[in-house]
Amino acid sequence: MQENDRQWLTLDLLKAAEKFFRARNIDEARLNAEMLLAHVLRANRMDLYLNHNRPVFHRELEEFRLLCRERLRGRPLQYITGEQFFYGYSFTVDERVLIPRPETELVLEHAIERLKANGCTQNRKISVLDIGTGSGCLAVTLALMLPTVDVIAVDLSDGALEIARCNAAKHGVSEKVRFVKADALDPGFSEEFSGKFDMILSNPPYIPEPEWEGLQPEITEHEPKMALTTPDGFAFYHSIAASSSVLLRPKGILCFELHADGARKVSGIVRSGGFENIEVHRDYAGLDRVISGVLAECKG
Ligand SMILES: C[S@@+](CC[C@H](N)C(=O)[O-])C[C@H]1O[C@@H](n2cnc3c(N)ncnc32)[C@H](O)[C@@H]1O
Repeated sequence: MQENDRQWLTLDLLKAAEKFFRARNIDEARLNAEMLLAHVLRANRMDLYLNHNRPVFHRELEEFRLLCRERLRGRPLQYITGEQFFYGYSFTVDERVLIPRPETELVLEHAIERLKANGCTQNRKISVLDIGTGSGCLAVTLALMLPTVDVIAVDLSDGALEIARCNAAKHGVSEKVRFVKADALDPGFSEEFSGKFDMILSNPPYIPEPEWEGLQPEITEHEPKMALTTPDGFAFYHSIAASSSVLLRPKGILCFELHADGARKVSGIVRSGGFENIEVHRDYAGLDRVISGVLAECKG
């Protein structure tokens, strides 16, 4: 990559970049090289191999070198390319939002299963409140997958709401997802919404503050701290479970993403919020990742 006069071909440049990343201990060196080169050439990864003899022009080479250096400084790949896939859909991301994680796809899958099991079918309007929407990955994908769903998606960050609105527009669901700025920790949170929801869905900040410094620098130096931490890790579960009993219709569903060590405690919070049929689901690594419950009907 350093030879200035050389005419690079796509595959040769890919191999050189992989070697460059590997020598500097960047994980998944080949994938990083592919994603960055595909971004610069406005192509997809497969195109790099289909057009392996395509010459890389000087301007493209300069841009590619710049991006490789950014990656080397630890900026996450997704913020460099401005894109992350979630459930097969492309989401625009930048430093104002958390990069959607694969484990959050399980929250989506489980939410859909629970809505279906609860009798929310294609024939009836379904209303969902997504708390802490970030990039909008849960709200937008839900709207894409369930044609009768309407979502209100809440975040406290203006930057996140801007990105989320852009993602809803990108996928043609702006009519089905309404974005609202609100503070889920405010005691008056539930008063901001009228009507009864079928589901409340949330991947809230759940990393306890003291754990923040121990996370990888790629996270602490680039991802928004407010998207990830709370003082003890449980503030959002307490607050959302308390307001859910007001915001949900009877038999409405509450569905949370979990900190892997939090299932027992969150289960207690959800139960004392008036929920029953509580289920905990594990991710592919065997860690507790999703919890959901059904709001009990008032007796008597
Ligand atoms: C873990 S991120 C989840 C983002 C997205 N839903 C996802 O799953 O990738 C939590 C989100 O909650 C938002 N947030 C933090 N504090 C909040 C508050 N007090 N009220 C509402 N949203 C808040 C953050 O801005 C962030 O977008």
